[in-house]
Amino acid sequence: MNHITSDPLDRHRFPLDDWALVETHVDADDEGTTETLFALGNGYLGFRGNVEEGRDGHVHGTFINGFHETWPIRHAEEAFGFARVGQTIVNAPDTKVVRLYVDDEPLILNDADLLSFERRLDFKTGVLSRELEWRTPSGKRVHIRSRRMVSFTDRHLAVLDYEVTLLDADASLVLSSQIINRQDRQDDYLTNAPEPGMGDPRKAESLTERVLQPRYKLIDGPRAMLGYQTTNSGMTIVAGADHTIETENEYEVSTHIEADLAKHVYTIRGRAGVPTKLTKIISYHTSNAVPPKELADRCARTLDRSAENGIESAIRNQELWLEDFWARSDVEVHGQPAIQQATRWNLFQLAQASARTDGGGVAAKGVSGSGYGGHYFWDTEVYVLPFLSYTAPLVARNALRFRQNMLDAARSRATELNQHGALFPWRTINGLESSAYYAAGTAQYHIDADISYALRQYVAATGDEDFLARGAVDIFVETARMWADLGFWRANGKDSFHIYGVTGPDEYTTVVNDNLYTNVMARSNLLSAVEAVERLREDDPASFERLVTRLSLDDAEVREWQRAAEHMHIPFDKRLGIHPQDAQFLEKELWDLDHTPPEHLPLLLHFHPLVIYRFQVLKQADVVLALLLQGDHFTDEEKLADFDYYDPLTTGDSTLSAVVQSIIAAEVGYQRLALKYFWSALFVDLANLHRNTPDGVHVASTGGVWSALVLGFAGMRDHGGVISFSPRLPVDWQGITFRLTVKGTRVRISVRRTEMRFTVEEGDSASFVVGGGNVIVEAGTTVTVPLDNQGPHLVGEPSASDIEGSRRADGSLITVSMPTIALGPADTESIPIIQPQSE
Ligand code: BGC
Repeated sequence: MNHITSDPLDRHRFPLDDWALVETHVDADDEGTTETLFALGNGYLGFRGNVEEGRDGHVHGTFINGFHETWPIRHAEEAFGFARVGQTIVNAPDTKVVRLYVDDEPLILNDADLLSFERRLDFKTGVLSRELEWRTPSGKRVHIRSRRMVSFTDRHLAVLDYEVTLLDADASLVLSSQIINRQDRQDDYLTNAPEPGMGDPRKAESLTERVLQPRYKLIDGPRAMLGYQTTNSGMTIVAGADHTIETENEYEVSTHIEADLAKHVYTIRGRAGVPTKLTKIISYHTSNAVPPKELADRCARTLDRSAENGIESAIRNQELWLEDFWARSDVEVHGQPAIQQATRWNLFQLAQASARTDGGGVAAKGVSGSGYGGHYFWDTEVYVLPFLSYTAPLVARNALRFRQNMLDAARSRATELNQHGALFPWRTINGLESSAYYAAGTAQYHIDADISYALRQYVAATGDEDFLARGAVDIFVETARMWADLGFWRANGKDSFHIYGVTGPDEYTTVVNDNLYTNVMARSNLLSAVEAVERLREDDPASFERLVTRLSLDDAEVREWQRAAEHMHIPFDKRLGIHPQDAQFLEKELWDLDHTPPEHLPLLLHFHPLVIYRFQVLKQADVVLALLLQGDHFTDEEKLADFDYYDPLTTGDSTLSAVVQSIIAAEVGYQRLALKYFWSALFVDLANLHRNTPDGVHVASTGGVWSALVLGFAGMRDHGGVISFSPRLPVDWQGITFRLTVKGTRVRISVRRTEMRFTVEEGDSASFVVGGGNVIVEAGTTVTVPLDNQGPHLVGEPSASDIEGSRRADGSLITVSMPTIALGPADTESIPIIQPQSE
């Protein structure tokens, strides 16, 4: 990927602002990116940052978490147990359209003569606003102000207003407010064209058949509603809007409704200097099965209640909600305005992706785009949940309950793969495995351990043992059963437990034996299960008995988990002094990343998987991620040696990588490199560094940005439930301040070069370890702890040339190379397709 070491944004266009992302001129060339950057969402409902006028747009997108269509996956060559049900998030009816015509000329933002323009996504109010002045082709100046918001307090609610004032001449104005089914139709006058961009696995499948079957429509005074049922998955949706117009101008209103379009058209005799404001209160309700008519009633209730309270009250509630969010979640980076603004944008995205999922998952793109089909991955547990567990425990609990509710499907999937226990799907919306490519999908059994890791971390951070007693403990038990059954014993001198035929996080190496990450995470999963079961037996015998009955648990299997964990094989290569990524990894040639032209990245878009699999080359951190999550099982020397080995082989083709590389680089002492990876993660979307931001926000990376600050630069670890700090503040930073909520106590923590400060902001007390000593902070006090240093400082960066020349076990030399022939996606189009001869 493109790494950066300084602020990549054009500050004339995106000026610095601590609490907002601001844009001062429109650029059609990166419309897809800005639609993502200015997207609004609450975890349930998401609006891309499309302009209200509704015509220009890379992708007009409205997404509801989990609202998806299914389709049969047709494998060209079938095999038993392959994923069968494809799931793709649906583009929900678009309610944010307000088209403007002045003297019958439409406002088309990309072409318009704009005398001024500002768009602002405000992190404190949660409102996206625009203010612009347009000179119409006939020379009239028109001032436009619009605001919109997707509510955090009422997840079914969104509001927008649109105000037009003619500045120097009278004119006829038309405001056409619409609800459009954009899934099956492009626009009010056009039907859908097939989507471009197929062939990139990171994009959503495009659904070619009609998806939304019309089931309900209503136009009644200022209210419009459209309701649908998806063709295959049978899900239902109703989108509704209420309109209010405020003006001293004369106007008329007409309405129009058909299956895929509802319109309120206001024709206004506009007078110079007299504003006209249209307010739209919007509601969405969705369900797995409830009839659209019932959803329409729910929508009506949301609209009635919100109309009564008014848009200003909704905006005030939003501000209050965000005040609380920032009190729990803000990270201040002192004296670094560009980093500060980008950090807050990333944290704001975390709220937008997760706050009101209320029992749904957190998709890889949140509700900001259709990338990865709206699927949930391990991204949630390993990248987002650390942030949530320490800043928003209720949201973390909901995300884990979502996995708990998926257990039945995970049990069936394990059975289908001939295993005991439960196997969570690699990617899914409805609980069924949806990854059509098993090698980089289903084979990532580590998802079970990732979920267990997040559960254990949540319980340790919050003290919510009750959550386990009420049934979440089943996750530990069923995943431990899966590992105990998947692995097997070998007796080479001493008994050891091995796991074969799995894929680790690095998707450039698949279906291997004894992947280090998988083995250490499985070990931790097994031990968490033993610990949770034993604690329940001790502390809550009634819940323990219920667990035994519910899952037919017996003591012998718990002992077996303990034994498997204790004897888990942890591969280590004595010659190189490193942990091999898997049993065969070190036997392969090295991919020469230093000489790979940047246009051949990401490798997955330019090389067949078989070519990539033949080399030592990583898509993303694998062993290095294990060093973070299971850091108490590795020595400092091992961490440095592993990092030195793997870092030069890591392409960072996944955005899940840079944040982890940043944290471990900081820990082992590559302070400059840590900062480089941090910049690259911080701006991955803001500067579209992976060139796919138009598909939506990289939510895992936004969570990783929090981790890079708190775990990387503040050096926090929480192994075994003990929270410790060993800061690594970048040399030119003054300090950072963040908040953690630990067992109900919220603590503000500041890291400076020579000291750390802890202040209880809410709750009683909390304890931490700094530099080996215990720190106890009580309510109403601030504790200052001096810091001797900021860890080791290594010069330079690890390089592949240090690995070059290493030998395999048989003494042969490992060489550094790469394929000599390489095609781009465009070149493949010129490969002749041989047509079958007709008889
Ligand atoms: C990464 C996975 C990740 C997925 C969704 C892929 O590119 O390799 O680890 O889960 O993206 O973010």
